[in-house]
Amino acid sequence: MRTIAVLNQKGGVGKTTTVANTSAALAASGSRVVAIDLDPQAHLTIHLGLEPQIIEAGSYKVLTQSAQFEEQIMLVRPNLWLLPANINLVGAESELVSVVGRETILREAIESSEDKFDYCIIDCAPSLGLLTLNALAAAEEVLIPLQPHFLALQGFGQLLQTVDLVNKRINPDLKVKGILLCMFDSRASLPNEVRADIEQFLNNARGTNSAWAQAKILPTFIRRNIKLAEAPSYGKTIFEYEQNCHGAEDYKKVAEFVHAQFHPAVQTEVPQSATAGEIQGEDEPVAAPEPSSQPETQTPPEPPAEPAGDEQSQSMPPFEIKSIPQSEPQTPTEFTPSNKDPDQPETGYGEY
Ligand SMILES: Nc1ncnc2c1ncn2[C@@H]1O[C@H](COP(=O)(O)OP(=O)(O)OP(=O)(O)O)[C@@H](O)[C@H]1O
Ligand SMILES: [Mg+2]
Repeated sequence: MRTIAVLNQKGGVGKTTTVANTSAALAASGSRVVAIDLDPQAHLTIHLGLEPQIIEAGSYKVLTQSAQFEEQIMLVRPNLWLLPANINLVGAESELVSVVGRETILREAIESSEDKFDYCIIDCAPSLGLLTLNALAAAEEVLIPLQPHFLALQGFGQLLQTVDLVNKRINPDLKVKGILLCMFDSRASLPNEVRADIEQFLNNARGTNSAWAQAKILPTFIRRNIKLAEAPSYGKTIFEYEQNCHGAEDYKKVAEFVHAQFHPAVQTEVPQSATAGEIQGEDEPVAAPEPSSQPETQTPPEPPAEPAGDEQSQSMPPFEIKSIPQSEPQTPTEFTPSNKDPDQPETGYGEY
């Protein structure tokens, strides 16, 4: 399982939109994805069609160690599970203040599900508090959505320093993998200037031991698109709401990038000295790797068959978003032992 924290302490930069749509695209292409809502605003939960008021506790219960991770996750689309949030999560920070090891609770909670999912994607709150530290302690990769406007880089250094600190003290596997430019207008000069500044900043870190030494700006960016802003109010992903818009096109490319770049099989092919830019060539989207024996049908999480050695790269599913119906979201089903059983009837999303 690759665990990716989508993080920026600035508000409204596109974190939740990125988690919802990237998770949906990865799930629709056959990967088993669990998304975690680690923001008391519960925007991811709402975006994926759930009402936070009916959520008993979700991520709050997991962080306060009063429930197991798998008891709290819900199947919200085929191949896509969600650990939902509600406003209770606000209390978690103060309740945990005297708990020893409070930064690693989430990491320990998801550890036993390692083999059940291909991706765990965490939507962080716009802060660098304890909730975000839990995300950073649990993740291997950080993806930073950034809106390239005036002051976009203000706080960016602090964000990277925080990741670096967690990397040095709590989680040596943690790396900033990518910067995703959201609501980007390539025709305007300011976004391009901001982009150049970030590139310069990242280039200065190449070859150092900082946690962002290999970070790169994703070769694809997210255009400003009204459909992306409308979809959450219907509880739909962009692929369900309007699959032929720019937003859907852009997030499909992000998912392709994540699928290729973040997959361990691909990483093993990367020479140690190569930077992310060298890996794939400037501004060229990465082709999805060769494919695989991923089952066609929707099945509950089960440990994937371990490929041996060089065959690992062949285990990657082809990146293809299968058809997504335009119907209203249906009632999510709890992830319980009964819907983990392949002999049980499928959930309401079975026909997806
Ligand atoms: N590319 C886009 N084009 C137009 N609107 C967008 C785009 N991406 C996101 N939005 C809208 O901008 C707002 C902020 O996006 P989003 O909620 O994803 O940001 P966030 O970083 O998660 O915010 P917060 O820090 O509050 O959690 C939302 O209303 C969202 O629908
Ligand atoms: Mg958000």
